[in-house]
Amino acid sequence: MKPIKFIARDVSDIVAAASQCAILPVFQGKPLSGPALKIDRASSGSIKSALALGDFSGKPGESLMLPGTGSIKRILLLGCGNPKAFDRDAVRKFSQRLCSALESKQAGEATLHMPGMGLREKESKWMLAYLARHFTAASYRYTETVSSPRKAMKLARLVINIDKTITTRAANSALREGNAIGLGINEARNLGNLPGNICTPSYLARHARKLARGYADLSVSVLEEKKMRELGMGALLSVSAGSEQPAKLVVMNYKGGKTGDKPYVLVGKGITFDSGGISLKPGAKMDEMKFDMGGAASVFGTLRAISELGLRLNVVCIIAAAENMPGSKATKPGDVVTSMSGKTIEVLNTDAEGRLVLCDALTYTQRFKPAAVIDIATLTGACVVALGSHATGLFANDDALADQLLAAGNDAHDRAWRMPLWDEYQNQLKSNFADIANIGGPGGGSITAACFLSRFAKDYDWAHLDIAGSAWNSAPKGSTGRPVALLTRYLMDRAGL
Ligand code: BES
Ligand code: MN
Ligand code: ZN
Repeated sequence: MKPIKFIARDVSDIVAAASQCAILPVFQGKPLSGPALKIDRASSGSIKSALALGDFSGKPGESLMLPGTGSIKRILLLGCGNPKAFDRDAVRKFSQRLCSALESKQAGEATLHMPGMGLREKESKWMLAYLARHFTAASYRYTETVSSPRKAMKLARLVINIDKTITTRAANSALREGNAIGLGINEARNLGNLPGNICTPSYLARHARKLARGYADLSVSVLEEKKMRELGMGALLSVSAGSEQPAKLVVMNYKGGKTGDKPYVLVGKGITFDSGGISLKPGAKMDEMKFDMGGAASVFGTLRAISELGLRLNVVCIIAAAENMPGSKATKPGDVVTSMSGKTIEVLNTDAEGRLVLCDALTYTQRFKPAAVIDIATLTGACVVALGSHATGLFANDDALADQLLAAGNDAHDRAWRMPLWDEYQNQLKSNFADIANIGGPGGGSITAACFLSRFAKDYDWAHLDIAGSAWNSAPKGSTGRPVALLTRYLMDRAGL
């Protein structure tokens, strides 16, 4: 995939500036913008006559491609509706329309004329960041295991003619930010989409080393099963026990902040395939359990984005990677294992494996004296029942942290919804034969899973994102890259960006 270049500048002579496609936003029932009027005049009234014909009125979602004039090869009119209703929702739809209108064309370059859009500075920045993020994400193609992948987008350069509300510098940094988030989203999607026979725990460990080679602030260490055994990670090891693939605990250290600044820690569930283990899953859609490393993928993607941005913050990323299989050495229902924390766990269902790898990773996390810890996991089918695919489930032992994550999700349009972690739910995890059971009965499955994790996250501010519904789509099948945008926004907020 060739990356798209985004360039913001002040285009003074609209008509003389050569472009393969001039993009003109048009509000319904409003006069044409300055750039549109100039291009209309230069093209002997082509825009006004198209409007007069009634084929295009500026309704949201409408688009019309016209032949160009002089050094402008094409003119693309895009409906923006009522300027008073041109909110972020409308800006997102506008960006999506624009992208799909260009997707089918041969233009290698296009220029969007913003003057006349009437956005304030903050909203202009938001729009530029969203545009770059969306175009970058839209240019993603899955190529690894197909002979003829979907054709790449022709567009290589998107120029933005900015208006007076924003400086060229601010505009270009918004574009860079959106592009970095788009690259992070694509990184997460690609890892998620890879099949389980390629993307194994060892693959994720190798991928971490590869990622670190690209950025000076990033270093990697990988804990092997031998080391995990020494550390007493009996919960994590109980998951990989039935698989030929060894578990890996990947630790990536991003040092963008001052030495001594407490790190933000991201912990990703990296089950590269979840068969359920001895508590074997039914066959329908079992292939989708290759996406069970979506939490890990989003951690990689976020790390990619913040490294691109050079965020001045310390961030530690931990990937708890294992394959959950029913081999002869597999953990059996009723087995009791001892976690790194010392707590014993009765494994009543080997399909509740995510919490088993995460609990040891959360205990291990204590050594980093974190500012805050966020784990990300495709943890429960119950979360999909509760929230569907639009909201990520959010659980937290600290209200301020929860609010920061909710705000980041709203701003990035990668939204989460808070769920309770009340003590009453904790009772569902009682076991007769161990300190805690790994399942909590039929009610509130996503909550009892979070309650299980909370027992191992008492020593720091902690949040858990259940992305079982948001990490991938079933039709068309594919990883979404969520919640990279939420996490990156959260970390940018912490860095004061
Ligand atoms: N990875 C699954 C959760 C999942 C299921 C995500 C379907 C997305 C779609 C997880 O490991 C799991 O199997 N959870 C069980 C827990 C149960 C045994 C308590 C579940 O949700 O059924
Ligand atoms: Mn499972
Ligand atoms: Zn799982």
